[in-house]
Amino acid sequence: MKLPLVELHLHIEGTLEPELIFELAERNAVVLPFATLAELRAQYEFTDLQSFLNLYYHNLDVLRQAADFTDLTRAYLSRAADAGVRHAEIFFDPQAHTSRGIPLLTALGGVADALGTSVPDFGISTKLIVTFLRDRPANEALQILREILASGYTIDGVGLDSAEVGYPPELFEEVFALAAANGLRRVAHAGEEGPPEYVWSALDRLGVERIDHGIRSLEDPALVERLVRDRVPLTVCPFSNVRLRAIDTLADHPIVRMLDLGLLATVNSDDPAYFGGYIDDNLAALDAEFGLGPDRLALLARNGIEASFLDPAEKAALG
Ligand code: ADE
Ligand code: ZN
Repeated sequence: MKLPLVELHLHIEGTLEPELIFELAERNAVVLPFATLAELRAQYEFTDLQSFLNLYYHNLDVLRQAADFTDLTRAYLSRAADAGVRHAEIFFDPQAHTSRGIPLLTALGGVADALGTSVPDFGISTKLIVTFLRDRPANEALQILREILASGYTIDGVGLDSAEVGYPPELFEEVFALAAANGLRRVAHAGEEGPPEYVWSALDRLGVERIDHGIRSLEDPALVERLVRDRVPLTVCPFSNVRLRAIDTLADHPIVRMLDLGLLATVNSDDPAYFGGYIDDNLAALDAEFGLGPDRLALLARNGIEASFLDPAEKAALG
């Protein structure tokens, strides 16, 4: 039987597969700068986070109507169900769409439509986490959060993503304070390319409950002690770390060291359409590389359940 998997670090925009890019381009009469799938796929060689983000934002141009966002989200849910995912806490980047003229509620509404039937259609419960682009002004994030809160759409949390270095978490204190005041859960990407100080700041200035990536936390023993003591989950994405060159090769990945240190590390897929696979592919590759075996694979699955924003009864039903 498949392990009941929980996905906690998944950008819905990062599930936009090359085939769907071409399909949506045709639907919306968007002229792509790539003639063939092979030409597009040839772009998927990254030197760092920014080189990936450039292509990631560019490819979103094909998402125009609410139905496009619904189709994108349903395609992810279908693939996730095949992987054994039973619960997914999904990131959505509103500014990646509003900044190119797509109305906020067109994009959000399209994603929300698919999530609304994820349990009957795919057997996957979901939560929606709106992530703000840290390389855009905090005021813009604040405005978008206010619009969402007034919109009648329900979201579960807020997060912080995009280019990390030079954009420390504390720039977004007011945004996260507003989120907290409205009962939203809080997460942030930190320690992906940025230093351990950004992880401290995400915890202490933004009050986040989970750290996305967090791999550079290992450089700071006091931070590791804090994360272990408070059981702060780290949503680690091995394929992403290798493809964005944060880590040289999968064999160098610190996931086993993290577990051995007692960190509440989870395995996730980040942007699976870009990094070579989904959560099951990440786990299978780690198993092949490190010989994780059934016990540590089960530990990772349990960590995912514990780190989720499900309530205790829902966690028990999964575990
Ligand atoms: N947006 C999509 N994927 C991301 C990542 N790995 N880091 C930061 N921002 C992102
Ligand atoms: Zn991410």
